[in-house]
Amino acid sequence: MPQFDFLIIGSGIAGLSYAAKLARHFDELKQEISIAVITKVQADETNTKYAQGGIAVVWAESDSFEKHIQDTMDAGDEVNKRNIVEIVVREAPQRIQELIDYGTRFDKEKGGEYDLAKEGGHSDHRILHFKDITGAEIERALLEEVNRHKSIQVFTHYYAVELITQHHLGETVYRYREDIQCYGAYVLNRQTGEVEKFLAKTTMLATGGIGNIYQSTTNPTIATGDGIAMAYRAKGVCDNMEFIQFHPTSFYQPGQKPSFLISEAVRGFGGILKRADGSTFMEIYDDRLSLAPRDIVARAIDSEMKKNGVDHVYLDVRHLDYDKFLEHFPNITEYCLKSGIDVRKDMIPVVPAQHYMCGGIKVNEWGKTNINFLYAVGECSCTGLHGSNRLASNSLLEAVVFGHRAYESTVESFNKAITPSNIPEWDDSGTTHPEEQVLVTEMTRELNSIMSNYVGIVRTDRRMKRAYDRLELLHEEHEQLYRESKVSVAICELRNMISVSYLIIKMAMARRENIGLHYNSDHVNSEHAHSDRVHSDRVQSDQI
Ligand code: FAD
Ligand code: SIN
Repeated sequence: MPQFDFLIIGSGIAGLSYAAKLARHFDELKQEISIAVITKVQADETNTKYAQGGIAVVWAESDSFEKHIQDTMDAGDEVNKRNIVEIVVREAPQRIQELIDYGTRFDKEKGGEYDLAKEGGHSDHRILHFKDITGAEIERALLEEVNRHKSIQVFTHYYAVELITQHHLGETVYRYREDIQCYGAYVLNRQTGEVEKFLAKTTMLATGGIGNIYQSTTNPTIATGDGIAMAYRAKGVCDNMEFIQFHPTSFYQPGQKPSFLISEAVRGFGGILKRADGSTFMEIYDDRLSLAPRDIVARAIDSEMKKNGVDHVYLDVRHLDYDKFLEHFPNITEYCLKSGIDVRKDMIPVVPAQHYMCGGIKVNEWGKTNINFLYAVGECSCTGLHGSNRLASNSLLEAVVFGHRAYESTVESFNKAITPSNIPEWDDSGTTHPEEQVLVTEMTRELNSIMSNYVGIVRTDRRMKRAYDRLELLHEEHEQLYRESKVSVAICELRNMISVSYLIIKMAMARRENIGLHYNSDHVNSEHAHSDRVHSDRVQSDQI
């Protein structure tokens, strides 16, 4: 495999927007470069494609950067890094304009102005959207833009197994050495079953979320935390892993994976959360009612379900203008109808489901990790924007803003990386094809059960300790299987999900106060959000 200038792992909004920027830059300079984008299945199968509600940006005259900044800080309980929040909010309009220039369509009102929606935690209308399939529209436009550039090669059905660092040259790499360098990645070609060496001067992780460590998630099956686990094994620092966002309203459909999302925009449009008997309950929990931030609404629903011994609540949209509802939410309306719910007559059964990872690979304001020539952007990264709870529709935004910032930083350091000539081929001598696929399936089921039952919306010390102990056994069992087997996507994904779960549990156990998405019913609320934070480096140093 030739050496590339840039290797981008992931073809969602983060990876593609970064690729497009690089390609345009070097095209303008008339400089030939090579960009490899790899993606584990087909190019558009990403979390991005499933995004519904939209992308947040200060666009209306009544709105202001200060209001968006404050809403983001409030949702994140001020655990957010304020300088990062300022950067993202202030740079948003330019980045959104670029998405529009690439051909992304956003809905407009009759007068031609953009139709700005409102979602939980937002004090103004500021969500640009395309019907209820905004992500699919952005993904389409970005893929078209990427395909316009000859310098970009998209490798579909290629699975990144491991980042290449000095470790693969035989050096023992201890934690947090400042000179660790990424030289690319070992990548499984799923068609041939061979692991190939993709060398690159700069590597970008844009691998998305972690949803599949949980039993129910809105994330597609690709979301297995691969990038976070690869970076962690390469001695990258991860942060805020305890902050797992559960979306309050996924369509209640036991056994369905992924869970279908009923967008927060539906509540922004006037949908009301109710019990089976039609009574409302959000007034008990928050003045903002159904439009309170997600952590509050998800916990309120969890509490209602436990109190009433039921496994879901309802979202009522029957009082809304049906034609307008249909115009805004054609995809949701159709899905409900196909599943036996006519939104004109029936309330929609909803339940919280894992939705988003607020933490991830720690990066600076340019998307740089602590490993040289390794960047991380999008859901796999932790920039500090979201704090302890992400504000709705800030994720797509973070990905484009940081895709741009990482591009700016990359072109500055372009050609400074030196790749050693002695990087070995992937060595799988002594391994065999695993005959026990059933083991992987069963271990994944066990992992899902551990994480859902013990490390979900409401945690306790005892549940987390039990999760940790169970995970250790699972880890040992899996490592043995991994050592004996030729790599397969299923074995690698499980390995990565175990590592990510470990980081979540360790950071959740280390946090002593209840804040944002971390809620331990054994602990009383602390007013001092930062006072007893355990630094992620220390949590990580005690590795599984
Ligand atoms: P993704 O879009 O998930 O892309 C990840 C890419 O990495 C994929 O191409 C995948 O194949 C690749 N990959 C992963 N591991 C490997 C590997 N080992 N080897 C090769 N390739 C790999 N956010 C908003 O802001 N607004 C919304 O309205 C919104 N709605 C949402 C609705 C749903 C149902 C979901 C699931 C999420 C929603 N989000 C929303 C969150 C948002 O969509 C995601 O956080 C965002 O799209 C992540 O983009 P990304 O580029 O980081 O990752
Ligand atoms: C939604 O449409 O409710 C999802 C929005 C988001 O995750 O930001």
